[in-house]
Amino acid sequence: MSELARDLAATAAGFLPSVVPLGGASALLLDAVALVADDLELAERELARLLQSSVAVIPEVGGHLAFAGGKRFRPLLTALCASAAEYRSPSRITIAAVGELLHTATLLHDDVIDRGEFRRGRATARMRFGNGMAVLVGDFCLSRALQAVSTTGDLGAIRSMSDTVTRMAEGEVAQLQACGDHTLNRERYAMVIERKTAALVAWCTSVAGLPDPRLVGPLTRYGNELGFAFQIADDVLDFQRSTAIGPGETGKEAGQDLRDGKMTLPLILACEADAGLHARVRAALQGPAPMPQVTAQALLEAVVESDATSRAVRIAQDHAQRACEALSALPPSPARTALEQVTTYVVRRSR
Ligand code: IPE
Ligand code: IPE
Ligand code: MG
Ligand code: MG
Repeated sequence: MSELARDLAATAAGFLPSVVPLGGASALLLDAVALVADDLELAERELARLLQSSVAVIPEVGGHLAFAGGKRFRPLLTALCASAAEYRSPSRITIAAVGELLHTATLLHDDVIDRGEFRRGRATARMRFGNGMAVLVGDFCLSRALQAVSTTGDLGAIRSMSDTVTRMAEGEVAQLQACGDHTLNRERYAMVIERKTAALVAWCTSVAGLPDPRLVGPLTRYGNELGFAFQIADDVLDFQRSTAIGPGETGKEAGQDLRDGKMTLPLILACEADAGLHARVRAALQGPAPMPQVTAQALLEAVVESDATSRAVRIAQDHAQRACEALSALPPSPARTALEQVTTYVVRRSR
């Protein structure tokens, strides 16, 4: 019996969350969700199973984040892309659950790095259980993901996952290195978000490279462009909900990127267009960290009053458009239509 099977057999009984896949789905996604609802439910159960461990605190910490009402965007993509590629092997469920498990790992780690206090509308795992516990359970999620993908028996899937996790780590390291750097430009920002976000989204849409090889290329391109659009939209949301402290509709705290010294696309665009603002940003980034609330608030308002957020949204729309174009290589199907709708959702989403 494998290590994974032993752990799961020992502890799986009695730990299944109430399964409501994409319970908070945006109206724009309802058709897409309905199309693959069965797969989403199976992936949800598989995620709960993979989070099991004979060390009981692991599912407690992992479950605190994993079952707090995330959008389940990555499993949705895998289920739709598997359907669009007519890939019906049970491995699609494993990959859908692993995509969310990898996402869980990165969020556990990310909230330690970013000193995040709120996620999915509740205290982050690190606020509840401490930084050490959040980091180690994040490590558990990564290694559990590798175990799970190895059960597909497909070396290419294992290779594509290791490549993806490597890129994600590079992205987070590059971003941390760029923290407080007022010279961060569009090119370096793109390099960071390609790695930290788009790489995982593309792995999920490629279904780990398991479908027909002729379709894996277009599915990967779709995910890469979609991932860019998704992260840019997230960075815009950090400005648009910047008036209150505490979790708003997004379940995360507003203005956190700027206070952490992180230059994201709206701020980069605003600074490119306004040397005076750039000088203020530079001074604020060279001051105490995290940035005082009043300083951050004044800068956030300056960005919101400029046209930088709408320009960032247009750049996100361009990526979403390219994602949509990549789909033309797939045969027409209800799943392909749903994937087209997803490209509209990523830019319009409010959480
Ligand atoms: C948050 O991802 C991190 C980013 C890559 C922007 P999501 O916006 O998918 O977060 P959840 O899973 O819904 O909480
Ligand atoms: C999320 O990145 C984590 C990864 C994509 C690896 P961010 O730091 O930009 O996202 P939030 O805003 O905390 O969710
Ligand atoms: Mg981060
Ligand atoms: Mg963060």
